[in-house]
Amino acid sequence: MVATTSIHGMWTTRLAFILAATGSAVGLGNVWKFPYITGENGGGAFVLVYILCVSMIGIPIMMAEIMLGRRGRQSPINTMRTLAHAEDRHGFWQLIGWGGVIAGFLIISYYSVIAGWAIAYAFRALGGSFTSLTGETAKDLFGALTGDPERLLAWHTIFMVMTTIVISRGVRSGLEQAVRVLMPALFGLLLVLVGYALTSGNFMDGLRFLFVPDFGALSAGAIITAMGHAFFTLSLGMGAIMMYGSYLPASASITRSTIIIALMDTLVALLAGMAIFPIVFANGLEPGAGPGLVFLTLPIAFGNMPGGLLFGTLFFVLLVFAAWTSAISLIEPAVAWLVENQGFARVRASVYVGIVAWLLGIMTVLSFNDWAFSFDFAGEAKTNGVFDLVDILTANFMLPLGGLAMALFAGWFMARASTQDELALGQGPAYRLWRVLIRYIAPLAVVLVFFNAVGLL
Ligand code: TRP
Repeated sequence: MVATTSIHGMWTTRLAFILAATGSAVGLGNVWKFPYITGENGGGAFVLVYILCVSMIGIPIMMAEIMLGRRGRQSPINTMRTLAHAEDRHGFWQLIGWGGVIAGFLIISYYSVIAGWAIAYAFRALGGSFTSLTGETAKDLFGALTGDPERLLAWHTIFMVMTTIVISRGVRSGLEQAVRVLMPALFGLLLVLVGYALTSGNFMDGLRFLFVPDFGALSAGAIITAMGHAFFTLSLGMGAIMMYGSYLPASASITRSTIIIALMDTLVALLAGMAIFPIVFANGLEPGAGPGLVFLTLPIAFGNMPGGLLFGTLFFVLLVFAAWTSAISLIEPAVAWLVENQGFARVRASVYVGIVAWLLGIMTVLSFNDWAFSFDFAGEAKTNGVFDLVDILTANFMLPLGGLAMALFAGWFMARASTQDELALGQGPAYRLWRVLIRYIAPLAVVLVFFNAVGLL
């Protein structure tokens, strides 16, 4: 009844899975998004809610998502159909897979544009544009990029082509080796940046902003944004991790893998925050500067530190790689489905998916210039039109909804014996803790945060 291998291939070891899943989790979400939404939402209290959400909602749902994938061994759509059938449940559970494919397209559409910014900045770093940058000139540099739709489109196109090429060859070839080198390197560079922040003043202001909670700054919008980001940063709720779980050998421990992935992901985000906020305060920048925050702050650091040309170039190149290993996981479910159900060759499936994602990305390209408009979300002003809309729709609503559905399926609609068999934790306290989290805590938390955000609480 349940397959032991996937037709798309398998990870060779548990470590390969951990590296691939970490590659998916660690990306723009950690280095670009976490700092800017933390800045927009007042710092410490937001960070605390985010960490709570990662541990109480993210970890149990990640375990569930990997488990479902490994049991189904197919694209999320077919995995959910197979599992629903095996558990004698209604076929509508496959909607988790469909919703995930749509969310994946929407997310990659803007993810690719932002990754394009990182490519552009790698070249600027190399060309010496960061030398003696100040808060003011950093803004000019950034504005010249985002104000020019043709340039944004060119970088977006390059990133989408890169992603399509890798995905057409299968997610396993090269991914493991790439992440093995990349993660330590990214880590090392973040440490260099934190070191710079430490010596260049205002480090304590940065730390205080990040870690001292001011609950007065915690709006309903901030809470749902923190929860949404917990899903986003762990790649949860749309089937990316389910897909990676489907390539996981039967003997590997899901619990331990999950904890390692979540810890590494959180560490990278916190390091990025510790590098960025001291620079914000030392250079008269606004913590709430929005999506440009990383691109306004780190170039100042690189432009003023010894070896900045090398470090700056290396940093943005690594950021592009981190985005790359995340982007492929966003469209792998769609590609796998086309291969399974339409009989497409992998290359053809990848090209079709790549083209759709590229076209959708044009909405984001124009969000920062010609099509820019503002609106209010939960009392906060958003100024980047369709980009903000798509980001809020996916991260704050679609991913938590997908995760909620996975939690309900795993906690209430799968036989206890099935989950016990797959998680292989026995009957012990670890399994019972997971079961309480997945049946009660995680679903309730998601629903309460939703109600709170729409003003029902
Ligand atoms: N987690 C990645 C990041 O932080 C982005 C990402 C990759 C993602 N795959 C995903 C987000 C699936 C949501 C769902 O950059």
